[in-house]
Amino acid sequence: MPSPITCQHDLRELARRRVPKALFDYVDRGSYDEATLRANRTDLDAIALRQRVMRYVSDRNMARTLVGERARMPVALAPTGLAGLLHGQGEIQAARAAHAFGVPFTLSTMSIASIEQVRDAVEAPFWFQLYVMKDRAFVRSLIERARAAECSALVLTVDLAAQSQRHQDVRNGLSVPPRLTLSNALNMASKPRWCWQMLRSPGRSFGNLEGFVKGSQGVQSLGQWIGSQFDPSLSWGDVGWVRDLWPGKLIIKGILDAEDAAQAVAHGADAIVVSNHGGRQLDGAVSTMAALPSVVSEVGASTEVLVDGGIRTGQDVLKALAMGAHGTLIGRAFLHGLAAGGQAGVHTALELIRRELDVSMALCGLRSVDEAGPQTLWSRP
Ligand SMILES: Cc1cc2nc3c(=O)[nH]c(=O)nc-3n(C[C@H](O)[C@H](O)[C@H](O)COP(=O)(O)O)c2cc1C
Repeated sequence: MPSPITCQHDLRELARRRVPKALFDYVDRGSYDEATLRANRTDLDAIALRQRVMRYVSDRNMARTLVGERARMPVALAPTGLAGLLHGQGEIQAARAAHAFGVPFTLSTMSIASIEQVRDAVEAPFWFQLYVMKDRAFVRSLIERARAAECSALVLTVDLAAQSQRHQDVRNGLSVPPRLTLSNALNMASKPRWCWQMLRSPGRSFGNLEGFVKGSQGVQSLGQWIGSQFDPSLSWGDVGWVRDLWPGKLIIKGILDAEDAAQAVAHGADAIVVSNHGGRQLDGAVSTMAALPSVVSEVGASTEVLVDGGIRTGQDVLKALAMGAHGTLIGRAFLHGLAAGGQAGVHTALELIRRELDVSMALCGLRSVDEAGPQTLWSRP
């Protein structure tokens, strides 16, 4: 990694220089007017940490058990589709970085590398994220493949009953199926390092789908198939169906409402992720920091409540914990690292967060992440 990389912003700028604009925008942008994308950040920024002094904070412990696995800090890598296009073998690079660092990695249904390719390339078990699509036989086969690969948790994403639009993806031709425009092609040609990686990379299509979806071959026809597969008829009964097929840990991702959180727990979730898909689904939805307290008070005593959306720094992680989250997921924060420098870039992204969290804990007078709570936040006297 070129130095100095001082913060997440540096990684993002490096990512902007290294990958084609269409891919940078795909990672960066949100749905429609991006109000929820902005709210995730604005509401995190509005939370003030409470500085404490002279608290003897020599030995600080950031480790926490996330859904049954010991993690070096309360952070996991969120599932992100097409991560393998940001860097050659992107999912494998990210999974390796997460494993070496000591945090969970989640493979998306919409990844470039397949479940089997990641399992063969990475020693540690990983979490697998599932979309329940209309083709239930295919979904069942995905669950069986995740079981065969010994994935340590299934992350069931439930906030995609319909697909939102990101205007910039449409303009860039990064729709499903993708559209190769002249400006795209010229922009790609200006990123020779990225082109070289992609040429050397074995996969450039949806690895979990290619060869498994009957009658669909190539990114074009798979893209059309995906577009027809989001299922607005999904209901809690389908979660029960998944629960019956998956005996391991089940994480339900995409909850913003306390009533839905209670349903998720009633249907067998071992953990939930308070998430608005990083501001990529319902635009106008509440930020995750605003939604978190009511969900924690509804189900926090009976299940692990994780949160994502806008988390970029160790300070953000500490704020999320203080607001009641058991742990956090990061999306763009690691994707910028991946685009900037593959495995090393993801390591840098995680290491930045670790150092920031460590210093912030010291300055808040905390020796363990277990001590974070409402008292870690400043409130007007
Ligand atoms: C480029 C990108 C692709 C994503 N793809 C998926 C996906 O395939 N499945 C899923 O459950 N969530 C997906 N998400 C949402 C993330 O899992 C996560 O909820 C979100 O990124 C958190 O917000 P943050 O990026 O601000 O950290 C994606 C997010 C991004 C940025």
